[in-house]
Amino acid sequence: MAVITTIDDLHRLYRRRAPRMFYDYCESGSWTEQTFRDNIGDFQKIRLRQRVAVDMSNRSTASTMIGERVAMPVALAPVGMTGMQHADGEILAARAAEAFGVPFTLSTMSICSIEDVAAQTSKPFWFQLYVMKDEDFVRRLIGRARDAGCSALVLTLDLQLLGQRHKDLKNGLSAPPKLTLPVIADLATKWRWGLGMLATKRRKFGNIVGHAQGVGDPASLMAWTAEQFDPQLDWGKIEKLRDLWGGKLILKGILDPEDAVMAQKIGADAIVVSNHGGRQLDGAHSSIRMLPSILEALGGRTEVHLDSGIRSGQDVLKALAMGAQGTFIGRAFVYGLGAMGQAGVTKALQVIHTELDKTMALCGERDVTALGRHNLIVPQGFDDPTAVV
Ligand code: GLV
Repeated sequence: MAVITTIDDLHRLYRRRAPRMFYDYCESGSWTEQTFRDNIGDFQKIRLRQRVAVDMSNRSTASTMIGERVAMPVALAPVGMTGMQHADGEILAARAAEAFGVPFTLSTMSICSIEDVAAQTSKPFWFQLYVMKDEDFVRRLIGRARDAGCSALVLTLDLQLLGQRHKDLKNGLSAPPKLTLPVIADLATKWRWGLGMLATKRRKFGNIVGHAQGVGDPASLMAWTAEQFDPQLDWGKIEKLRDLWGGKLILKGILDPEDAVMAQKIGADAIVVSNHGGRQLDGAHSSIRMLPSILEALGGRTEVHLDSGIRSGQDVLKALAMGAQGTFIGRAFVYGLGAMGQAGVTKALQVIHTELDKTMALCGERDVTALGRHNLIVPQGFDDPTAVV
């Protein structure tokens, strides 16, 4: 196998090894995918300031996210159906994150259940909650996360209905996949994936199948969201969930300064500036474009994280230097997982860490927490969402 040095190398391998249906699910944005592309394109518009003749010994990427020590401020984002990208995917990713010293976030729509991941890991992970109409089910989910020792609840606010992703509809996305002729033809070329899946029992939405009732097709993410997710979720309900949970709360999916201020008012421990990886409101700005105005509205009184578009350690550095305290990667770790299982997630984290560390040094910095706008060359108008950059 070729030497892996970039996230792109993992992406290529992942594409060859994962079933088409799950590759497409990961790699899609909604509708025209404009926001999906902008997330990456806008990072590229920000340039780095090269500094020289600065002592670059003893560098550190260590930091904190919501008060937890992290080897680098890069958490694994909640990704639905991770256990379909590779057998036992959530467990493998959580183990890789734990060994590396970064947070792992388990999605409500995971294949491995909360209890399963807790049993197979030794450090607390974060649990991402989608709010469903069935209040009792939500209450039980929160209780399960608490019993499993989860150290933060990540409440996702930007997906009460699913942004339309054409490929998923055309592919008939489901977990486990329905064995139609095109799916069988594809799986015949993905023997590695198939062997892993045959060897595991974890092939359904582990947090919900057997725990919730009244959905037409329990294998379909589309059916779940359409039938179960609560379209009436509002700030009043968020406050109630905050009280029900009682622990650290991260509000994910904030892309507007006014919403950020609401999140601050209800006392979120952190927000995640996010457009869900370009998977929800196509046509919205990239997260990195919206970050400055959100930071300004919050006035430094709430911790801010960012996801959507991070594919390298340089992107991490740019997000931090723009003012985020932490970042999340979704696709970047899924590429590694689909390519090589747990070793691939570790590889993705190593690649990102090395890029972050070396770039930091070449920018004349030794401490990731000291990064700032002084390290960047940002196009004029970038901070103004109404300007064309
Ligand atoms: C979340 O579950 C997604 O599909 O983006």
